[in-house]
Amino acid sequence: MPSRKSSPKSQARPAPAGSFDLETFLRNGAEAVNAALDLFLPKPTVRPATIHKAMRYSLFAGGKRIRPSLVIASAEACGGFVEDALPAACAVECIHTYSLIHDDLPAMDDDDFRRGKPTNHKVFGEGIAVLAGDALLTSAFDIIAQAPASARYSVAMQVRELAEASGSLQLIAGQVADLEGEGKKLTVPQLRYIHERKTSALLRCSARLGGMSAGCTAAQLAALSDFGYHVGLAFQVIDDILDVTQTSEKLGKTAGKDVEAEKATYPSIVGLEKSRRIAQQLTARAFAALKPLGKRAEALNAIAEFLLKRDR
Ligand code: IPE
Ligand code: IPE
Ligand code: MG
Ligand code: MG
Ligand code: MG
Repeated sequence: MPSRKSSPKSQARPAPAGSFDLETFLRNGAEAVNAALDLFLPKPTVRPATIHKAMRYSLFAGGKRIRPSLVIASAEACGGFVEDALPAACAVECIHTYSLIHDDLPAMDDDDFRRGKPTNHKVFGEGIAVLAGDALLTSAFDIIAQAPASARYSVAMQVRELAEASGSLQLIAGQVADLEGEGKKLTVPQLRYIHERKTSALLRCSARLGGMSAGCTAAQLAALSDFGYHVGLAFQVIDDILDVTQTSEKLGKTAGKDVEAEKATYPSIVGLEKSRRIAQQLTARAFAALKPLGKRAEALNAIAEFLLKRDR
């Protein structure tokens, strides 16, 4: 378990307007999260070694760590500290990685590459990949249960926050609708239903948990929810766009799979140009949601802008 440091807690130093160094922020955040994940999870030599190797294989394969970065940036937007946000940051990344391992299984999207490497089931077999996903999902709750409580948010509230976003009404609901939508011509509202749940719910939850770790006010929590919801929707629209515009090498996963699997996506329903406009509009809504948080939300602002312009 990462020990609570007795040294002064780290907080991003305010930078002059317009000069926020997002690259350094994301790198520092990813380093802190990777170090904490390494401490939270059993070592790869711990028996049964296969499962711990499989969990770590996908977890440390080189994901962008967007959700943990949102947790940390949201905490800082509310005057909080990285150390207090780390359990939530690690927990959301465990949920995300489990969802990817299962998403890639032959019974779901049947993908061979993820994060630039062969998928978990290609390396360890389907049985172990199912179990590695199960184990990461379980670890997420072990980790969030170690988050510090604040005056406003008990540990139980934070655990329920994560359970709601990952459960059968949100992330799982989205994955169900995504599978059931294959080969069908869905309407935009039906596609929005899928995106809200399979992707936006966990990004919204990441922003909220970051705020909670900082003991944020109800008004700050509402702003973070609004921000996370819109940035989460924009994130999946861009993911759909990248699937048809980018190379597999760049994405680290096989491009063009959505068309092949006849997935309902924004480009397939409204076309590429309109999809880009929708992603811009959603990002504008995310920027607007940050207004009540003021100057301290500059990392969140920069993340939303980066996610719109990303090419992987
Ligand atoms: C991919 O998420 C799955 C979606 C919800 C679109 P990311 O694009 O964040 O994947 P990693 O973590 O960087 O691999
Ligand atoms: C994945 O959505 C969403 C979850 C894993 C919850 P996608 O199926 O579009 O993600 P990629 O394109 O495989 O990364
Ligand atoms: Mg999928
Ligand atoms: Mg997929
Ligand atoms: Mg996709």
